[in-house]
Amino acid sequence: MNSPARVTSLLSAIRSVGADPRRGGYSRFTYSNADAELREWFVAEAARRSLDVEVDRNGAIWAWRAGPGGSLEDAVVTGSHLDSVPGGGQFDGPLGVASALAAVDLLDARGASFGRPLAVVVFGEEEGARFGQACLGSRLMTGDLSAETALNCRDIDGVSLADALNRSGIDPTRVGRDDEALGRIGAFVELHVEQGRGLIDLGQPVAIASSIIGHGLWRLTVVGEGNHAGATLMDHRRDPLVAAGAIVALVRDAAREVPDARATVGRIQPVPGGTNVIASRVEVWLDVRHPDDAQARNLVATILDRARRAAASEGCDVTLAEESYGSSVHFDATLRDRLATVLPEAPILKSGAGHDAGVLAEVVPTAMLFTRNPTGISHSPHEQIEESDAEAGAAALAEVLADLLAGQAGAAAAADPS
Ligand code: GLV
Ligand code: MN
Ligand code: MN
Repeated sequence: MNSPARVTSLLSAIRSVGADPRRGGYSRFTYSNADAELREWFVAEAARRSLDVEVDRNGAIWAWRAGPGGSLEDAVVTGSHLDSVPGGGQFDGPLGVASALAAVDLLDARGASFGRPLAVVVFGEEEGARFGQACLGSRLMTGDLSAETALNCRDIDGVSLADALNRSGIDPTRVGRDDEALGRIGAFVELHVEQGRGLIDLGQPVAIASSIIGHGLWRLTVVGEGNHAGATLMDHRRDPLVAAGAIVALVRDAAREVPDARATVGRIQPVPGGTNVIASRVEVWLDVRHPDDAQARNLVATILDRARRAAASEGCDVTLAEESYGSSVHFDATLRDRLATVLPEAPILKSGAGHDAGVLAEVVPTAMLFTRNPTGISHSPHEQIEESDAEAGAAALAEVLADLLAGQAGAAAAADPS
């Protein structure tokens, strides 16, 4: 047995993969060439640890250490994702995968054998950056997202998920709820880079998650009249980009009126998008989050109402389509308390970001750990990790996994599903 890999050494092997010189940071879109390289890296690292690799029906990669008698039942599962937002950081997703591999090394270094199987999993399209559906891979596995809806999602070039899967050697006709994969999971623990300042403020390297805020994605389509930028007098225009500008500001203002709400327009696309062309239509993507579903939906209704009025004053129309929605998640209390016993110093923090763990929490006992991010910034190249914190995170994950592997997480959690 070699000495356990350091998390930052594991990550340095993929430091150049998906680097985006145009946007800065990393653009690692699902089923792109960069994603294929990341997946190959993970498979090679799994093989180095004698883990058995399989790709499931929804494209997730599983690296298994079977339990006694080759059993894969009631497994302790850890892992995260490798895809990124456009121009994202290096750690959102990959830190959880590299920490999982490092934790396997730490467990192996103890030389102990465990009574339960262990798996490291990599889910696909967690960010929704290519096909517009947050946590697409894990939501397909649980059935929260239907195969039909997912397969018809298209990327910015019009490539459907079905085409992308075919090109990656994954059979799209087998995509969908996977009871076999779900049935094997006794407990899931995802480690993730913290995406805020909680651990900075508390002076701690590692936290345990309590909950994830509810999160929805919508698309506003603002329709006006395409025309010539020089020949069309200012009073004769129905310019949807002017209306879209007002909508961006009113989204911010409406969210400020609702305590605990966050609402963001991070992407707009004028069509056809020429410098000397008045757009005929603008797509405005809207991200709204609130701990309470009703308040999130009320806020979206308020935004739509105000957007229609702002658009009407420019002679434009607005329609709204929901692309995805996930309610707030409260992690399994029994499992969370068990992690707190193993990691007594770790504070308990809420997550304002979405995670595959939030999807799995609906069907299996699930928990999360966060590793401190010294900038507090995420979804940006400024996301950061200190080497000592990365090691503390992997060590904390190894302690948690050792505890669960020695016991019965599923049974404990089933006693209190709150
Ligand atoms: C994923 O990181 C999200 O919260 O959007
Ligand atoms: Mn993530
Ligand atoms: Mn993210």
